[in-house]
Amino acid sequence: MTLRGVVALDGPSGTGKTTVARKLAERLSAGYLDTGAMYRVITLAVLRAGVDVTDADAVTAVARDAVFTIGTTPVRPSVTLAGEDVAAEIRGPEVNHAVSPVSAVPGVRELLVARQRRIIGEVLAEVGGVVVEGRDIGTVVAPDSPLKIFLTASAEIRAARRSAQDTAAGRESTHADALASVDRRDRLDSSRSASPLRAAEDAVHLDTSELDIDQVLVALSELASRRGLLDCAAEATR
Ligand code: DC
Repeated sequence: MTLRGVVALDGPSGTGKTTVARKLAERLSAGYLDTGAMYRVITLAVLRAGVDVTDADAVTAVARDAVFTIGTTPVRPSVTLAGEDVAAEIRGPEVNHAVSPVSAVPGVRELLVARQRRIIGEVLAEVGGVVVEGRDIGTVVAPDSPLKIFLTASAEIRAARRSAQDTAAGRESTHADALASVDRRDRLDSSRSASPLRAAEDAVHLDTSELDIDQVLVALSELASRRGLLDCAAEATR
């Protein structure tokens, strides 16, 4: 089975978006775009430049000059900044803390949304389908997407997942810290004026609190199939 078109996967952090998006793309021989990683790499560039994250003009200037790449292969999506592999560093606490104010800067969003649309076009031309994850994919980046998903989960569950991820990556993390961080980012991401986190009107809401990854994948594959986005013939000719 091969995906045709764009699946937009939005929702707050800790809902399993990244794991689900990558596995879905892999399962459906599609490309994968992690737009959060793009905001993170710009945030790292801003921190490295020593720029104040509340100075919108200076932050936008850094974003304009940043030389970065973002891979679209679901198995191992690479991220580089000025030629350096920064895939691990963009998940660290400094970037976690600064990414919400940076992603709230309209100039940054304008630049990244344009680049995201370009990448989506390229991946579609190359492999025919792409799973795109973020906060504004269904509302702003790809509003014509034939399948928009809004993943949710309780704050408690999301904090537990975030804390487990941090621990697995060798970073110290308590449940209370993770909950405070999830809460803080939810508030900032949902209340900013430029493309706040919200579900598209025609998005399908899926609460992942009580579901494991496989159950989420089955639900999404079924939705894609019902929307006629799965090309079964392509498999045979690949
Ligand atoms: O998905 P993530 O946690 O890696 O996203 C990092 C931050 O980037 C998050 O605080 C919200 C922001 N973001 C955004 O504003 N728009 C997107 N399309 C993706 C992420």
